[in-house]
Amino acid sequence: MVKTAVAERHQSIPNDLENFWMPFTANRQFKQQPRLLVAAEGMHYTSQDGRKILDGTAGLWCCNAGHANPKIVEAVQRQVKTLDFAPSFQMGHPLEFEFAARLADILPGELDHVFFTNSGSESADTALKIALAYHQIRGEGIRSRLVGRVRGYHGVGFGGISVGGLPNNRKLFGMGLPGVSHLPHTHNLQHNAYARGQPEWGAHLADELENLVALNSAETIAAVIVEPLAGSAGVLLPPKGYLQRLRDICDKHGILLIFDEVITGFGRLGANFASHYFGVQPDIVTFAKGMTSGVIPMGGVAVRKGIYDTFMQGPEHAIEFFHGYTYSGHPMACAAGLAALDVYVKDGLIEHAAGLAAYWEDAVHSLKGLPHVIDLRNLGIIAGIELEPIAGNPTLRATQVFLKCYERGLLTRTTADILALSPPLILEKGHIDQMFETIADVLRDM
Ligand SMILES: Cc1ncc(COP(=O)(O)O)c(C=O)c1O
Repeated sequence: MVKTAVAERHQSIPNDLENFWMPFTANRQFKQQPRLLVAAEGMHYTSQDGRKILDGTAGLWCCNAGHANPKIVEAVQRQVKTLDFAPSFQMGHPLEFEFAARLADILPGELDHVFFTNSGSESADTALKIALAYHQIRGEGIRSRLVGRVRGYHGVGFGGISVGGLPNNRKLFGMGLPGVSHLPHTHNLQHNAYARGQPEWGAHLADELENLVALNSAETIAAVIVEPLAGSAGVLLPPKGYLQRLRDICDKHGILLIFDEVITGFGRLGANFASHYFGVQPDIVTFAKGMTSGVIPMGGVAVRKGIYDTFMQGPEHAIEFFHGYTYSGHPMACAAGLAALDVYVKDGLIEHAAGLAAYWEDAVHSLKGLPHVIDLRNLGIIAGIELEPIAGNPTLRATQVFLKCYERGLLTRTTADILALSPPLILEKGHIDQMFETIADVLRDM
């Protein structure tokens, strides 16, 4: 009876969108003018009204191999028929071991032990827990302070929002973790506007870590977590030398350095990881998104053997790390991830992305001088287009550009008044031309 009523209601009101509480979305505005995507292939989405939408954002920085890649689709289809699920605690299945080993081959430096999660948020919280527990086990439990960065984004768990530095993500949710400090962010228009690639100015901002050490004493600090390139806060690039300086200060004081590579991992900068691109080795790396090209949710945390071995103590029958998720290492996620790695590494997609980075940079900077543009930033296949906010109405300008681009067949993303682009890495020059021509036209018409 109830079911029939629901079915009828859906037939008569195809756009009844009330029940779904959408994440990070202006729910009321969206539900008045919905933007529904119903299919995807390669570089394009299809919208519900049948339009082809060029994907300028790889979904949400994740579909690096493009949409519906046949290798990944087939791997998932095969896997769901063979082994749909295996318990992740005290049981295993071959694919998760194979995937961890394959990841160890491409992870930065000595990072070769992988803990699986289901998202970037879970990866960030897992990494923080590993860092705290590592010091405890070594008898340095006093090292419990965590250092994040203003404008950092490490997902939405309580750990992630505590070390993160985006006010809207924190201010309604209580006190967060105790003992957290923040470094300043590295974004500075006065010094670095329109820099091509990494800006020259700002390495010294890492020295603020020395001030935090002086203030709190080095032996109380467990870890520093930063995104090597901050994506979600609006494409904030690390100044030349900045990350190495953080590394040096961490080394000097026995502090673990965590790179959150949730968006920079798996080829976004034209290298496997940003750590490779910048030549700076973290102690722990978090990743997700591109790991499965977004096909099945998955994340991970990688550590070097020394950290893993620190946990491998006590009676052999005892659990060493009281942490994990029902879906850690899910068979379908592993199948998708292994197939995605084949596409990235064996099919040369990362080299393809690296080969397009210079063309991409020129296209990004071709927007200089257009109405409302106050900065352009690029690295690898990432762009940030910063717009002058409308006085008294922050975020409205970028939202208008986003909506107009979507009307004209291009998917972009916004943070505050910054437009961010991060298309699938299968893109070709023609896609780049279309993206920047669309944005230029929209800006000229505003
Ligand atoms: C650097 C970084 N960390 C963590 C996350 C959170 O990932 P998820 O949304 O999968 O939880 C994101 C998402 O954009 C991110 O950019």
